Amino acid sequence: MATTTWVRAYDEVDLSSLDFWSTRAADREKSFAILRERRPLSWQPPMQGGMLDDPEAPGYWAIVRHADIVQVSRSDVFISRKGVMFDNIPEEVLEFSQSFLTMDPPRHTKTRALVSAAFTGRQVRRIEEQIARSAATIVEELIAAGSDVDFVGHCAARLPLRTLSDMVGIPHEAREEVMHAADALVSVGDPAYLDGRPAAAVFFQAQLQLKQVALALAEQRRAEPAEDLMTSLVQAEVDGERLTDEEIAGFFVLLAVAGNDTTRNTISHTLKALTDHPEQREWLTADLDRRLPRAVEEFVRWATPVMTFCRTAATDFELHGRLIAAGDKVGLFYASANWDTEVFSAPDELDLDRHPNLHLSFGGGGVHYCLGSQLAKAQLRALFRELLGRLPGIRAGEPEYLAGHFVHAIRAMPCYF
Ligand code: HEM
Repeated sequence: MATTTWVRAYDEVDLSSLDFWSTRAADREKSFAILRERRPLSWQPPMQGGMLDDPEAPGYWAIVRHADIVQVSRSDVFISRKGVMFDNIPEEVLEFSQSFLTMDPPRHTKTRALVSAAFTGRQVRRIEEQIARSAATIVEELIAAGSDVDFVGHCAARLPLRTLSDMVGIPHEAREEVMHAADALVSVGDPAYLDGRPAAAVFFQAQLQLKQVALALAEQRRAEPAEDLMTSLVQAEVDGERLTDEEIAGFFVLLAVAGNDTTRNTISHTLKALTDHPEQREWLTADLDRRLPRAVEEFVRWATPVMTFCRTAATDFELHGRLIAAGDKVGLFYASANWDTEVFSAPDELDLDRHPNLHLSFGGGGVHYCLGSQLAKAQLRALFRELLGRLPGIRAGEPEYLAGHFVHAIRAMPCYF
């Protein structure tokens, strides 16, 4: 593969600094808007706040327009096996830690197929009743805890954790540990979260913890099969061979990370949005059941819980008159795409009746499109049906945001009812 030898100038709008990712989404949008309009393809310095800051890293191309993210996501020029994060993580580590998220076809196709059966619309409809029951219990528990508690811990975090744990078969006593370890994996970009600990150490420790839970569970399901995803995994075969322990652990890590904080953060951002836009809440609650499915799309656009992913160019590619050379990294800025005025009218406005709503919160299409999108939406519908039904006046206090370029997370947020 050719490497780029010339030095390119970094764009004057810097998307890589810790300062930039410590501001609020609305402030960052000002920078994205400039780039979308004037320099849709910009060369950026290496992203700061990674797990393994690499002084040798040359930088990356920022893709900020909706149409370009769709094009890159669907093109086989842009591959995932070199990593989908800004960090240059060694391939062996990727292999284990991010499973099929960092594979390309045909391997990706085969591996994703092993779990995808559990995530189809039909499968999700089958477990919707169980999700609704969990949502009811969680809101009941919130009411019992009383007003002025942390909404994230007492409500938003609970449904994704329960849903995923039930699907995979995670035992009750391991659930909190799985969630905290999964959180650590997406939080290493925030110095406040790290609190002086080295990012790589926190990352590897969390990996190890998840792996141990996965392997203990796999062992148990081999001995005593049950009706859950872990049992399917230990029984699954690819080309006549059973999955290895490493592969099973990789699946587990991916699902634990992808399925937890994304939905949780959407729930928290949504309560804040409904608090800030009472007229939108009123519109929604006037016909909750009928209006929720469309509103949920806007919840997910508004939250954009995953703000970035990366790809690497496998061959040279020209975009907007500039050359992306083979081996260059490209960063996909979903948060920018979701505010692109070419696609959304008045993107700064929360519009729960927005349609069509072609947000890219679940990715730009293509083979890696979020496997859990149906599941996430089913959870959001169930939770807000219950929450707004039981506590129509619930309000959010000031959120405490996590800094960083990857997940758009709210660590804590009081709620009042
Ligand atoms: C609102 C909630 C969620 C959001 C915003 C979200 C977002 C995303 C995004 C942006 C991607 C990458 C897409 C791409 O590269 O093109 C992704 C991939 C993925 N998501 Fe989600 N996700 C959510 C919930 C879930 C849930 C609940 C699960 C499962 C329990 C899940 C499982 C996955 C998996 C397994 C992948 C990797 C797919 C692949 O590489 O083929 N996600 N998600």
